[in-house]
Amino acid sequence: MRVGIAGIIGAVVLASGAMGARADWRWPSFPAGVSAPALPAENGMSAAKVALGRRLFYDRALSHDGSMACADCHQQARGFTDGLPTHVGVTGDMGVRNVPGLANVAWRSGLTWTDAGITTLEAQAMVPMTGTKPVEMGMAGRDGDLAARLDADPCYRRMFAQAFPGAKGAADFARVTAALGAFQRTMISFGSAYDRGALPPLAAKGAAQFKASGCASCHSGPDLTDGKVHYVGTAAPRESDDPAYGGKPPPPGFEPPPEQFRTPSLRNVAVTGPWLHDGKADSIDGAIRRHAAAHLTGIDMPALLAFLDALTDRDFLKNPALGPPPVGCPVPT
Ligand code: HEC
Ligand code: HEC
Repeated sequence: MRVGIAGIIGAVVLASGAMGARADWRWPSFPAGVSAPALPAENGMSAAKVALGRRLFYDRALSHDGSMACADCHQQARGFTDGLPTHVGVTGDMGVRNVPGLANVAWRSGLTWTDAGITTLEAQAMVPMTGTKPVEMGMAGRDGDLAARLDADPCYRRMFAQAFPGAKGAADFARVTAALGAFQRTMISFGSAYDRGALPPLAAKGAAQFKASGCASCHSGPDLTDGKVHYVGTAAPRESDDPAYGGKPPPPGFEPPPEQFRTPSLRNVAVTGPWLHDGKADSIDGAIRRHAAAHLTGIDMPALLAFLDALTDRDFLKNPALGPPPVGCPVPT
């Protein structure tokens, strides 16, 4: 049975407006074998935090020049990606990696394409806001600006007070990232044909092919990822000034280990292109063929693609609770 996740989350968020700041969070029902995601001890869920995180996610005030929100790179209709190979930051730095989708990101224990040691959504959110390699939102060292902007908005003042009762002082990065984390944990996607056990015949054939070809050894579990990094043959050859060579030209015959990438979740993969860590695969078929795997010979690509298409959760891509926040303030004066 499929429960309308959109409906449940929407109802909880609305109820919070009336009930004030209480730990009133209730997860929707998850499919068999999936339990509620682990939460950092200091950031429990609440409807007030989720509502605040949603507003922040869509707010360009989180970038230096007010031109870029999380949602500009993470667009709901594209599974929270942006349709570009890489995205230019506010100061013109070219992005280095393709924007990954955020469906079921609450369950990822390692984040980003590489083994960067980022394990919580709270820590991750600091990267786009304050990262300098590359600059994305350009807020490094601008704690004061952030606090001043958010504090100048009476609605944010009420929303922060409700989401963090008892917290003193102006809004800061810690509370901003906590709220963003809570909102992102509601990006729950278990409504595809695959989840409903409703695979069309060609997709069912593709599911069998997916197993037989060993795809499921890395694209495993409820979100079709093992969360680990692998070398699958997609890394570009290193440049001679690569730090792996220690700043010197590589000695003859020296081969640095190739770069490994984290197995991406394949949820909503049909709408998250272009694909791969560099965004250089402009078809799913092309992304699969860039895996240097011998067992790719003789695969039934149309069936495989039909299976991957059946991982698209149309309700998730349109769920109003994950879209832009209401224009008016959700917390009355
Ligand atoms: C300029 C585009 C851009 C903006 C703005 C942006 N992101 Fe991202 N996001 C990316 C890219 C690119 C990656 C992959 C980074 C990497 O692997 O090195 C990413 C990765 C992530 C991940 C990790 C997902 C995973 O499965 O590993 C999360 C979570 C995330 N972003 C949330 C956010 C939040 C929250 C904001 C706003 C504070 C935000 N992003 C703003 C481009 C962006
Ligand atoms: C050894 C582990 C492994 C196996 C086996 C594997 N993959 Fe992957 N897959 C990965 C990794 C790692 C990436 C990311 C590579 C990159 O971005 O450069 C990836 C990327 C992808 C992507 C692109 C997703 C995106 O969002 O960019 C698709 C599609 C995909 N794999 C499908 C498959 C299919 C279909 C098979 C079986 C034929 C398969 N994979 C086998 C590890 C694996």
